Amino acid sequence: RIIHLADYRPTDFVLERVDLTFELDPTETKVEARLIFHRREGVDPAAPLVLDGDDLTMTSLLFDQIEMAPERYTATPESLTIRDLPESTPFEITVTTLINPEANTQLMGLYRSNGVYCTQCEAEGFRRITYFPDRPDVLAVYTVNIIADKAANPLLLSNGNFLGGAGYGPDKHFAAWFDPHPKPSYLFALVAGDLGVVEDTFTTMSGREVALKIYVEHGKEPRAAYAMDALKRSMKWDEEVFGREYDLDIFMIVAVSDFNMGAMENKGLNIFNDKYVLADPETATDQDYANIEAIIAHEYFHNWTGNRITCRDWFQLCLKEGLTVYRDHEFSADQRSRPVKRIAEVRHLRSEQFPEDAGPLAHPVRPTAYREINNFYTTTVYEKGSEVTRMIATILGRDGFKKGMDLYFERHDGEAATVEDFVKSFEDANGRDLKQFSLWYNQAGTPQITVSSSYDAAAKTLTLSLEQMIPATPGQTHKEPMHIPLRFALIGANGDEQNPSSVTGGEVTGDVLHLTERSQTFVFSGIASRPVISLNRSFSAPVTLHFAQATEDLALIARFESDLFSRWQALTDLALPNLTAAAAAAGKGDPVSCDKGLLDALLAIAADDSLEPAFRAQALTLPSESDIARELGANNDPDAIHAGRQAILKEIATAGAATFEALYKGLASDSAYSPDAASAGRRALRNCALGYLALSENAPGTAAAAFARADNMTDLSQALTVLAHRFPDAPETHAALAAFEKRFSSNALVLDKWFQIQATIPGEGALDRVMRLMQNPHFVASNPNRVRALIGTFAFGNPTGFNRADGRAYTFFAEQVLAIDKRNPQLAARLLTALRSWRLLEPGRADHAREALMTIERSGSLSNDVRDIVDRTLKG
Ligand code: ARG
Ligand code: ZN
Repeated sequence: RIIHLADYRPTDFVLERVDLTFELDPTETKVEARLIFHRREGVDPAAPLVLDGDDLTMTSLLFDQIEMAPERYTATPESLTIRDLPESTPFEITVTTLINPEANTQLMGLYRSNGVYCTQCEAEGFRRITYFPDRPDVLAVYTVNIIADKAANPLLLSNGNFLGGAGYGPDKHFAAWFDPHPKPSYLFALVAGDLGVVEDTFTTMSGREVALKIYVEHGKEPRAAYAMDALKRSMKWDEEVFGREYDLDIFMIVAVSDFNMGAMENKGLNIFNDKYVLADPETATDQDYANIEAIIAHEYFHNWTGNRITCRDWFQLCLKEGLTVYRDHEFSADQRSRPVKRIAEVRHLRSEQFPEDAGPLAHPVRPTAYREINNFYTTTVYEKGSEVTRMIATILGRDGFKKGMDLYFERHDGEAATVEDFVKSFEDANGRDLKQFSLWYNQAGTPQITVSSSYDAAAKTLTLSLEQMIPATPGQTHKEPMHIPLRFALIGANGDEQNPSSVTGGEVTGDVLHLTERSQTFVFSGIASRPVISLNRSFSAPVTLHFAQATEDLALIARFESDLFSRWQALTDLALPNLTAAAAAAGKGDPVSCDKGLLDALLAIAADDSLEPAFRAQALTLPSESDIARELGANNDPDAIHAGRQAILKEIATAGAATFEALYKGLASDSAYSPDAASAGRRALRNCALGYLALSENAPGTAAAAFARADNMTDLSQALTVLAHRFPDAPETHAALAAFEKRFSSNALVLDKWFQIQATIPGEGALDRVMRLMQNPHFVASNPNRVRALIGTFAFGNPTGFNRADGRAYTFFAEQVLAIDKRNPQLAARLLTALRSWRLLEPGRADHAREALMTIERSGSLSNDVRDIVDRTLKG
């Protein structure tokens, strides 16, 4: 069944209050829901009340406290329909269901993870707990009572503020929670179990003290300190930058080890994948610290963008997700290096979102139809959604954006809103029409912009011609031209920026050029000498530019641009043609060589101590194999791409050996580990240098010594990666892998890294290695993090291993997806998207990939989740 945006209508009945009582039991939990409704004005008095369910067993149903006559209702596992209801007076329904948390392997609804009861209700998990109008536009105030065995569950938590608790019979106790803020069911949460806690407080801008609590497994409390610090910084930042204050007496975070996603913003009670809470120098990398900071902030920021203002329906998902990702991006940029953060964001967008937007699963930031909503928690909704928000800020400027946000909060607080409401707030606050801009929400596909320029020395004018093309995507063949804000600079030969005296051909505000026509020519006057054009500075628009700039021009941008992002982009533009040519040469067995200009630019940046180390590390990390595949467009041979790229890297390593050695030695640190961005940047550059050193050496000595000497997880895991990927068969590598496994055998999050490092060793041997690792006693098929670490990393992060020419890895993968689907459809569907670009492979591999997809397609018992992905992947 397909759900369409155009079919939206409000519910027939208004939900006034929710009272839930849980009697927790591992296999037989009793849930009593008391719901007060009234019929919405104007609704047919004969219309029945239809509540959603999923896999439910009902044990009792009362109407105004009296058992309901069986002819008045129909209950199935999927719905509860009640007839003959009052025309306008409120009434109370009390429904009791029996659920089995232990058997809930989907990890949606109420389940148990490592002995802890927890919930995941977004998007449609609440209906696996009780019958309910389970949609985001039904907002109500909740009271929650929890009864459970006291010894096993000293902790009983739910949303809102704690009302009180007491003993309950000989072995049980109960707790009551009240959340005064009306909320949709997807924000409901319950946690019960025996956990340790880290406590702190935060005083809000109006002077209220909020209790902060982070719950983790006993003994892991010290590893929650960084998350607590990130939480307090997030709370402060949201007050300072967005004027948003927290609104309950308590804010809680619970870390669980089995979780389908990163984390969940339940009101006052966030539930996290423990991977995004726990960190210490011995077990977490710099990347882990950065992820924790970003995700703690993301979930906290949802309190206003998501919870106080929620979504009218799931088509509006980007209203909370795109906006909240934008907010967490800005937070991290303020806490760390803004340009380095931007480079990382763009790398991620290009490697994840661009392929999605160019393939069979492409969809608009706001989709108009879905078959399974869980499949729309995508990088398009999240990351492209964030870019769309960023473009609004670029078009309106800092103050205009702030005015629009303030109006949005003022108008829609306490409501379930739409994308139109959001855009209208910016229009009304700024007196600016954003109608054309709104196409960004509705048209899928990455805009392709072809650019050409010419300089007239006599007239001192620069002519810049741009043409936009938005590719066809599934269900959308015709596209309208969009409003694309492109930041730019005109750079003179000495590196200075030139300012035109006037511009014709379109709107230019400050350093933003507004491309609004399908093709448009801008003429800049008063330009004293031929400038080099730096276009789409800071990646102001999520587009692909086709602009054949001369190598010297790119080299000039790489050297002089004041926008560091653009310097990195120029290096990328220098490298890509070299890497695609290398792939072609390697495919034919021809020699490969690195362009001299690229080599010089890279080594100059490597040795330039005036640049921050984190930036230099990014600059020295060449476009990935999937970046090269995307650039090639079609008929991809992953082995040739890998061979060509490796040959270029080796040449850089050899030519720069002295530089890399100096960096590696010079950046060694004997001070204690600190996760701050500057220290992390030095480690990133040093480990990047180690990678190059290992490439220029024929024996694992340097990497093995780095592994032996590492005193933190960043250096240790990097050294192990270099060893395993560069010298997979060396005795030193085997020894290091064994030592690592032994040392961290009781730490699941570190073992995930051990699996990941091995799953990404390139080459044909990868499949057998992955199959062997599945037999390792540490491989736990029920743990999503572990499955993603081994099978996910192999499918998404090992192009040569996964795409072996004989197709055997696809066959293996299809079997795994089918097996996982039986337990956890969401996880299976997410993994399956690894095949989304199958049509871009050379014909032999593409055939094998299609075969594997067909095997899944033919299976008789697919979940809705996997069925949706496999159908679209084969069709699109
Ligand atoms: N709202 C959560 C977040 O982005 C993600 C929840 C995803 N849930 C799902 N069923 N796909 O913070
Ligand atoms: Zn989110």
